[in-house]
Amino acid sequence: MGDIALAAKALLSGELVAFPTETVYGLGADAENEKAVSRIYSVKGRPTNHPLIIHVASLDQVSFFAKDIPDYALALAKRYWPGPMTLILPRTENSRDFLTGGQESVGVRIPNHPLALDLLRKFAFLGGHGIAAPSANRFGQVSPTTAKAVIDEIGKQLGEKDLILEGGISEVGIESTIVDCTRENPKILRPGFITAEMIELTTGKQMSVVDSSLRASGSLPSHYAPKALVVLDSEPMAGDGLIAKAETKTPAGVIRLASPSSDEEFAHLLYSSLRAADELNLARVVVQTPEGTGIAIAIRDRLEKASRGR
Ligand code: TXA
Ligand code: MG
Repeated sequence: MGDIALAAKALLSGELVAFPTETVYGLGADAENEKAVSRIYSVKGRPTNHPLIIHVASLDQVSFFAKDIPDYALALAKRYWPGPMTLILPRTENSRDFLTGGQESVGVRIPNHPLALDLLRKFAFLGGHGIAAPSANRFGQVSPTTAKAVIDEIGKQLGEKDLILEGGISEVGIESTIVDCTRENPKILRPGFITAEMIELTTGKQMSVVDSSLRASGSLPSHYAPKALVVLDSEPMAGDGLIAKAETKTPAGVIRLASPSSDEEFAHLLYSSLRAADELNLARVVVQTPEGTGIAIAIRDRLEKASRGR
């Protein structure tokens, strides 16, 4: 049996499998196995009232977990799945309280990564319905975009029979756009690669653009944060790490961590650069945030949260 078939079998036997997606790596469990799902929370150190996203192989499988799907959500699913977008939909009774935190809605996504799709299809072939998976990091930490980062985050917490699948560097690099589809008009709960403009174009519905940098800083707990202090849009000093667009020069004594030449590359490199800062034991990382709309909104959202400190 190949690695992926073994992993699908392991999931059905109640083990955890960390797997790559195009956004970040996920820590997966059979979405119908309460014991396995509860282990996700203990491995992550995550409060159990935070609901999980269910990953599925096809639109057919979505209706196992979600019902009363509005037309605009179907349009989004057909346009952007497989892809970096999670839809929040009214749940069926198959979406149990241990997945949704007792909410009447459920988050569902078809990821766009060949290995993840292969795993989901083999899991479905064996009779599984969906894989519940949060990002494969300890609660509040930076999401992993490589298998090595998964090992660094949760390797010690995993059991002997749990698996980590190697699938290279996540292409998008930041978590999926979360769209609340339980209302008249779609609403972005977490910005990502799929932008408000794209959603408006596909659905023909107006929506509000969420930009967390507009919210009062410090009103939410820190998230996506490395050990190093993350400082936004100030002058780096000697000994600091620097993440900035390619055109920004590196001052003397400053350690350049990334020089992306586009916003997409910025997102792709962001988390691995923050991890590199910790590996170098840097006390501070200065990030020159990208301006404007598109995926820059999602990058600023994550950086705002990372900069709130511990
Ligand atoms: O890109 C991603 O979405 C990655 C990959 C692995 O798919 N997953 C991910 O999962 O980022 P997680 O658990 O780290 O973040 C999911 C977020 C949480 O903040 C959770 O509160 C929210 O989605 N969420 C899940 N179900 C929800 C629901 N029914 N209503 C509102 N928010 C929900
Ligand atoms: Mg997460």
